[in-house]
Amino acid sequence: MIHGGDIVTYRQRSGRLAQDILDCSANLNPLGVPASVMEALSAAMTAVVHYPDPEQREVKAVLAKRFKVAAETILCANGATEAIDLLTRAIRPKRCLILEPAFGEYEMAALRNGSTVVHIPMHVDTERVDFPWGLIESMARQGDLLWINNPHNPLGIGQPFAAWSSHVEELNRRGVQIVVDESFLDFVAEDNTWTAMHDVASMPHLAVIRSATKVFAMPGVRFGFAIVTSPLAEAIARIRDPWSVSSLAQAAAAAAYRDTVYLEQTHSWLAQEQDFVASTWGRSGLLRVNAPVAPYVLARFADDKAAQQVTLVLERDGIFIRDCASFRGLDGAHRRIALKRREDNERVWKLVMSTL
Ligand SMILES: Cc1ncc(COP(=O)(O)O)c(C=O)c1O
Repeated sequence: MIHGGDIVTYRQRSGRLAQDILDCSANLNPLGVPASVMEALSAAMTAVVHYPDPEQREVKAVLAKRFKVAAETILCANGATEAIDLLTRAIRPKRCLILEPAFGEYEMAALRNGSTVVHIPMHVDTERVDFPWGLIESMARQGDLLWINNPHNPLGIGQPFAAWSSHVEELNRRGVQIVVDESFLDFVAEDNTWTAMHDVASMPHLAVIRSATKVFAMPGVRFGFAIVTSPLAEAIARIRDPWSVSSLAQAAAAAAYRDTVYLEQTHSWLAQEQDFVASTWGRSGLLRVNAPVAPYVLARFADDKAAQQVTLVLERDGIFIRDCASFRGLDGAHRRIALKRREDNERVWKLVMSTL
């Protein structure tokens, strides 16, 4: 499975040092790891002589306060990727319904667990997210697991849960399990009103996933979590590795989710860069981009050749973007480009313009 952010390969391919590479292939917060997280990590170093807390008590208390959810409903994991795997293993669906294009790990988890994968196409080159509810409702059967990603990777667009919660309610009534992957929702300032987290208490077949790795720029530490019902929490407790969330990850995540100042800075950075995208990428008649709510742009160039040319020109300058050919439903003309600080976004845009 191809992922973005493969810095070791980029170093080998370009002969550059990591600090001379601008990695726009992974959607990590360019404000960097919060200082509070760095401090928490160094303070936690002395604790590595002990096993991590298998109940992750401190970080769960922080998450419960921040997101106003009950601590017992929180499942901590070694990145959202582990949460995806644990949920699939515990639910044991016969079929996994995946809206394509999609993050590849939904399918990998399904295949590892012997589930049949049903691909449901989404509209891709569109301004507003458009989950195909008619198609979903005609295909979903009791016992299926449906993945919904909001905001969507790689489309970059999203909608508040309230805009489509009636469909999720209907599917719940029919016994279809829904997991909403909100790995990019912390980037959205209206996070608290967009989330599906608060509906888990009233919908027996709903779960929500979050990732700390993108928004706090710490993919190497690995922390993600899910909000789950009690039966699902119990099923997962029976099958999981109790120590998969290291003491460093727990300490880092507790510090990160307490750091509301960093989040405010993130929201104001992203609002400014979204304006920049609208006035540059968004205005060019030579390619199309979705108006993103997430920290990346999905661009469709004139054809595969034009996209390859852009990729080459950027790579010559040490800039790596995400080839989207591995995403079902996208093609060789699509590229996903993570937003960075303004000077980097300007540099990328100028190079792109020079090739069009
Ligand atoms: C939609 C989505 N969900 C989950 C993940 C995995 O995140 P983590 O690094 O926390 O495992 C990614 C990573 O790219 C993603 O794009």
